[in-house]
Amino acid sequence: MGKILFLLFLIKFSYAEEAQKCAWDNCHATDPDPNVITAHLIPHTHDDLGWIKTVDQYFWGAKPELVPVGVQYIYNTVVEELMKNPERRFSFAETGFLWRWWTTTTDKNREKFKYLIQTGQIEMIGGGWVQNDEATSHYVDILDQMTLGLYRLSHTFGKCGKPVTGWQIDPFGHSREMANIYAQMNYTSLYFARIHYLEKEVRLKNKTLEFNWKASDDIESEIFTGAFFNDNYGPPEGFCWDSLCGDDPIMDNEELEEYNVKEKVDDFVAHVKKQAAHQATNQVMLLMGSDFQYTNANSWYVNLDKLIKYVNADESEKVKVIYSTPACYTQAVKRRSPKLSTKADDFFPYASGKHSYWTGYFTSRPAFKGMIRQASSMLQLAKQLEALADLNPSINSPVTRLKEACGLVQHHDAVTGTAKENVTRDYEKQLARGISGLENVINDYMDKLHPHALKSNLILCPLLNETICQPISNSDEFAVVIFNSHARYYNFTVRIPYKHESAVVKNSKKEVIKSQVAETFKVAQLNSTDQLPYEIHAFVSIPPLGYSTVFVSKGERKVRKVRKNPSGNTTITNEHLIATFDNRGYLTSLQNRKTGLLKSIRQEFFFYEGIDSKDDQPSGAYIFRPKSQQPIAFDSKIELEVVKGSVTNEVRQKINPYVSQIVRLPKNKNYVEFEWIVGPIPKEFKNPVTKEFVTRYTTEINSKSVSYTDSNGRQVMKRYFDGATSFDYDDTEPVAGNYYPITSFGYIKDDKNQFSVITDRAQGMMANEGVVEIMLHRRCFYDDHFGVEEALDEPGKDGRGLVAKGKHIVLFTDLEESAAQLRPLVAENFHQPVLAFYNNSNLEKFEFNRQLESPERIHEFPPWLNFLTIEMLENRVDGKNNVLLRFEHIYHNDSAKAAKYAVPQILDLDNLFKSFKLDFLEKMTLGGNKKLLETGKNRFIRKKGNVYELHPSEILTLMYVPNDF
Ligand SMILES: *[C@@H]1O[C@H](CO)[C@@H](O)[C@H](O)[C@H]1NC(C)=O
Ligand SMILES: *[C@@H]1O[C@H](CO)[C@@H](O)[C@H](O)[C@H]1NC(C)=O
Ligand SMILES: *[C@@H]1O[C@H](CO)[C@@H](O)[C@H](O)[C@H]1NC(C)=O
Ligand SMILES: *[C@@H]1O[C@H](CO)[C@@H](O)[C@H](O)[C@H]1NC(C)=O
Repeated sequence: MGKILFLLFLIKFSYAEEAQKCAWDNCHATDPDPNVITAHLIPHTHDDLGWIKTVDQYFWGAKPELVPVGVQYIYNTVVEELMKNPERRFSFAETGFLWRWWTTTTDKNREKFKYLIQTGQIEMIGGGWVQNDEATSHYVDILDQMTLGLYRLSHTFGKCGKPVTGWQIDPFGHSREMANIYAQMNYTSLYFARIHYLEKEVRLKNKTLEFNWKASDDIESEIFTGAFFNDNYGPPEGFCWDSLCGDDPIMDNEELEEYNVKEKVDDFVAHVKKQAAHQATNQVMLLMGSDFQYTNANSWYVNLDKLIKYVNADESEKVKVIYSTPACYTQAVKRRSPKLSTKADDFFPYASGKHSYWTGYFTSRPAFKGMIRQASSMLQLAKQLEALADLNPSINSPVTRLKEACGLVQHHDAVTGTAKENVTRDYEKQLARGISGLENVINDYMDKLHPHALKSNLILCPLLNETICQPISNSDEFAVVIFNSHARYYNFTVRIPYKHESAVVKNSKKEVIKSQVAETFKVAQLNSTDQLPYEIHAFVSIPPLGYSTVFVSKGERKVRKVRKNPSGNTTITNEHLIATFDNRGYLTSLQNRKTGLLKSIRQEFFFYEGIDSKDDQPSGAYIFRPKSQQPIAFDSKIELEVVKGSVTNEVRQKINPYVSQIVRLPKNKNYVEFEWIVGPIPKEFKNPVTKEFVTRYTTEINSKSVSYTDSNGRQVMKRYFDGATSFDYDDTEPVAGNYYPITSFGYIKDDKNQFSVITDRAQGMMANEGVVEIMLHRRCFYDDHFGVEEALDEPGKDGRGLVAKGKHIVLFTDLEESAAQLRPLVAENFHQPVLAFYNNSNLEKFEFNRQLESPERIHEFPPWLNFLTIEMLENRVDGKNNVLLRFEHIYHNDSAKAAKYAVPQILDLDNLFKSFKLDFLEKMTLGGNKKLLETGKNRFIRKKGNVYELHPSEILTLMYVPNDF
């Protein structure tokens, strides 16, 4: 009877939103006496979505021989223990696990969980799908994985499912942009554990572990930030009561042996006082839990209950203990109004010791990092097509699966390259599955658009980067539909594999377009039999948020032979630039054709040898630690091939059996592309030597010791060689300590020129005195002792070692041009076009009743404006779908010349969109889960209708709510 009543109560409860008391409304009282320290016990678990085991092995508890934990049991037992005692609290972070549990557990458990959230016993913190990495995650990926988690949370739990606490406790360094994103999502605080050991020393001494992080100069956002007292996110020594720990329980029966209450209370009080001595207030946060803890929540709570009881019983100690959550702790601190210092830089690079610089992972697993970037660009297309055609999203839709896969790999042991090899394979499998779903989305979209045409049967080729595309490998004729997810024209050269040495390429209007066939660049590194012998380079123009079709057929003209090993200097040229290579094959200069100005530039490859296991800190998946501070040069003469023509102008360099490169001047562009191919990195049979390959650009820019790197692809951070802003730099690792993460770009400049590199994946960069060095690939044969217990020795496809291919775009102009062009170029480079192939000789049937070029939906966006998100959100009960829209002002006020572009702009949506009617628009915070209150600080002034004002670097988030729901 009681049970039934209780269940009824639960069901009733979950509907009354006003009656809900979220964690932050239901905090236990702290002690009002300023002389009493309040210790906040924060029961929590840190559950990696893959690391030593795969995400699903962790969830189920499979492979106990690797780690004896299962996340499903954590949810089960925590819920059970919380239901026993309303005083108890728990904080859950990563929602990727929550939904796995949610869909596999019982109705009763779901109701209980809802009840616990809506009574404030559970606080949802963080709230993203994963706890994303902050060095290697791109901001689009961060927003996507946060949105995925947050939308489901608020959809399922209402107002208590809208987290207010930023929770990044494990990532290996912290970015300013991440703090900015949390601030824009209306979080009230941000917590983490890992900061540079020297900054930690200063903050402990200064009592500034907690501070206000000034997270953006342009937006003036700020977030209350706390670095933990311990170097980790676990409990004080002696108070770990998980089945994974070895600490004694509290044994409180004096009649029995082992009675230890006094000893435990004394130790606890001593710790609290020690910690309080380093905090700005008399509030102390204690993290009661750690990696995969609480598989048996009973052993934790039994002891925490007793700890609270016995410490509070002794008033003389002046310590009060309460169950708490991060939001309650934050409230308690803020209520005491401590004077907080501010910080405006970031926490990169992170070092846990003199020789432990966590700068290797910026580059670790380069092919996986490249695949992730490619997938996130594809996800943007998938979301757009779904929203444009209203394909009806559901939990099982291919777009949702791609979202989940892209979210998953942002985990701080995934994109970082710091999971075991087998776990990384699992990530790649899930990502590949997600990507293949894009094919369904594309075909569904085309079918919906062309109900009277032949069913669209377009096929994607994931290995175009290696000139492989099976479906067309035997075709003379085929069509390629090219999709552009950018809201600007894509006027660019696409490369299409082909079996013949001559081709005719026509556009949607059947006009012959500029194209050129070139022999495929054959290198021993990538010698697949599937590789096609030729590549068509065709100059296309794809409308914004649209597609366009090109038709390939056999031509007459023979391909122009590549010129091999020319003697003397070699030059290539396009409409803007002349690139000169010396007689050894190295690039030496770039000349601007318009101004005639000649700039000296050298590009070379080098490698570092990494420290091995004879030292206690080897170079490994996380850590970069070279043996010598000077990298080793390849001084061999380069084997050259030169391809010139009306579309293609490139120099192909074979440097040695494991490094080659194409240096290219793309048609109509004023930048240079460096397409590098590195690997397999050689491995000696006995005592193999770790090797880390870098590319170096040497210029005459007088950059001194200053350089600039992006923060998750958005803000720019000023970097000092051998220097830090928040502490006294100690030069213990002259190279590794000067590496910084770049997710999209980095640059150096002087008072005339700027040299910028745009990447296609996350990498590590170091710069000093005109030289920019970027690490491309690494193969480490020893574990670096941070838990993976496996060497970063990627076998690649055939076991010889991984080969990675990627691209740098180098923009080397005066300051003015760089200020104007760099940001738009970065945005364009993120939105890679997607080529879908139609391989059927009956092209006429394909064309019948089909628009070969997409309907014009929007006017081309101006360069300052990025259409960041169009995303349909899952299932409303009325079957209609909300659509999330984000618009980004891409310029930042980050240099004197930028000031011209970093100005407020008017966004008039009704004038940009042609075929949409954008009525019911709701202004949201960046996460899309909270309405943006019309406060004085809210700067998205709505002038009238759908007209907004956007300031530099601002992102406007709107929710389109069809009909009044
Ligand atoms: C620590 O205190 C010193 C001296 O007041 C100050 O110069 C420094 O900026 C502080 N640093 C931090 C990180 O709090
Ligand atoms: C990786 O997975 C494969 C296939 O399941 C298995 O045979 C192999 O033992 C695993 N390797 C490690 C190091 O766990
Ligand atoms: C791109 O191509 C379109 C159509 O061919 C043209 O209208 C537009 O001006 C071009 N944009 C640039 C930047 O070249
Ligand atoms: C080509 O792209 C695929 C898919 O992203 C990736 O798995 C592969 O590693 C890439 N090849 C090279 C040589 O980088």
